[in-house]
Formats: sequence, C-alpha cells, structure tokens
Amino acid sequence: LYRKAVNPPSSTFLLLGPSGSGKTAFLTLLESASSRRSNTAPRTHTSQNATSTTVTLPPSVPIASNQYRSVNDPSLSETKRNPVKYIVKDTPGHGKLRSSQLSQLEAILSSKKEKSPISGVIFFVDAASLSDAAEGLRDCATYLHDVLLLLQKLVFSNQKHVSQAASSVSVLVAANKQDLFTALPAGSIKERLEHEIERIRKSRQKGLMDASAGAASNEDEYEVLGTNGEEDFSFQLLEDEVGTQVSVVGGAVVSEEDTEAGAAIRGWEEWIGARL
Ligand code: GTP
Ligand code: MG
Repeated sequence: LYRKAVNPPSSTFLLLGPSGSGKTAFLTLLESASSRRSNTAPRTHTSQNATSTTVTLPPSVPIASNQYRSVNDPSLSETKRNPVKYIVKDTPGHGKLRSSQLSQLEAILSSKKEKSPISGVIFFVDAASLSDAAEGLRDCATYLHDVLLLLQKLVFSNQKHVSQAASSVSVLVAANKQDLFTALPAGSIKERLEHEIERIRKSRQKGLMDASAGAASNEDEYEVLGTNGEEDFSFQLLEDEVGTQVSVVGGAVVSEEDTEAGAAIRGWEEWIGARL
C-alpha cells in the first residue's frame, strides 16, 4: 500500500537579505542534508543570479498538512515517510541587485500561471552586524521595509489573484550567526528592526505629506508600511493591519561546535514545515 510517490514540490521559499548574511550557506547546508537523505551530490553556487533548488525537510520536522496523520498513523515511522520537498530560491543580497529581487517577487506573485507559489520569504540577517552604531542595521531594515511594503501593496491589490497570492506569504527573519558571541539574540534583532523600520516609515510618511501638501489621500494610506496610523511600527501591527505574519527566529548555518548537524537551523525548518 505504501507508495514511494515522487511528490512534486509545491511550495517555494524565497531567500532575501543583505549580502553576507548567510543565504547561500543556508541553501548549501539544506542541499547537502537533502542529498544525504537521497544519496545525490550537492551543487555549489555563486550569488550573481537567483538560483532555485529543490530540497527536502528532515522527516522529524512536522509539516502542517500531515501533522494529524503522522501523529496517529503508527504505520508511518519517521524514516518511512516520504521526504517532503520544497523549493528554495537563493538571491544575491548586494544593494545594487535588490530592486530586481523585488520586481521578481512582484512578478511571481502577480502571475496567474505560477505552479509553485511562494509560501514564505526567509529574510536572512547577520545577527552580529546589527549593533546600534552599525550602518548594517539601517541597510538591513531598509531592505526588509521595502520587501514588507511590496507585500502590503500586493495584499491590497484590487486584482483578486494577486491579493490572494500575497496574502499567503509569511516572512521569517532568520537571525543568523548565533554561533558568534557578538551576535544579538532574536529578541533584540526584532526590537532593533522594528525601531529602525519605524524611523524609515516616519520619514516616508512625512515625505508623502509634503508631496500632497498635508492632504493624505486614500492611496497614500497604503504607501506607508502598516498603514498610516498613529501607532509605532511593530511586526504585530503589520499582522493586524495587513495580515502579513513576520517571525524572528535565531539560528546558525555554521556552528563551530557542531554537536548535532542541523540542530542550529531546526527553528527555521520548523517554520518551513508549518507552511508545507
Ligand atoms: P550574498 O550572496 O552576497 O548575498 O551573501 P549570502 O547571504 O549568500 O552570504 P553567504 O552565504 O555567502 O555567507 C557569507 C559568509 O558568512 C560566509 O563566509 C559564510 O561561511 C558565513 N556564515 C554564514 N552563516 C554563518 C553562521 O551561522 N555563522 C558564522 N560564523 N558564519 C556564517
Ligand atoms: Mg549568496
């Protein structure tokens, strides 16, 4: 009865984030773990272009769509379960290439023919580079702000299929490099990003006001992340106003004392599994 069906991957996760944050390292780790599970060799990349790869989730990570079955069906042991496949798309983080990542994300979410819709954006952050004084924080928050604002714009699109596609995207901020002792924990990464995004949002709001001589129109409302309210920006506000979920989870792609391989990316894989 057990079929070794080759389920085609149905979900895509897009890796975004500044240069050097660990996107390619993460994909390489997923690939080598996946190929260990299926005995194929991993490939290597350079990040000049976006690359898509199909990887599998470790069987021990629960997935949303068969959580019920896996708990209740004793015939499906962990090793017998089909490895669940998903697509990961790596992108270059260099500042000059970001607008093209954004327009590609917009194109995918606007396409009617897309076979593997985007279930999530994994936004990588080098948690050791976001101290207050660092230019890194500003740069990183600006990129994240622009990604979230694009998603918001698409959620509020009056084309139904676009709005639906964008509404099903959630965002994981992967606070990477937790192995470094200078790395900030996920909680302070979250606070700093929210605070910095609030500053970006304020100056944007002011710019729009100036441009329209004080009379903010309805359209402008959607031009401000989390919409044009009084409240300070937080990821919770974005979820309440727009519906887009943002979670910040710490981890490490490279860990020096690698006790259990992959243990440091478990939180991210669980987030992925919850969306498969
Ligand atoms: P671009 O392709 O330029 O956008 O960068 P990227 O996000 O793909 O970064 P990449 O994966 O190339 O990683 C940059 C550097 O960070 C590499 O030297 C990695 O080995 C290192 N790195 C990635 N993850 C970790 C981590 O968890 N801890 C530590 N210490 N180093 C890491
Ligand atoms: Mg890269």
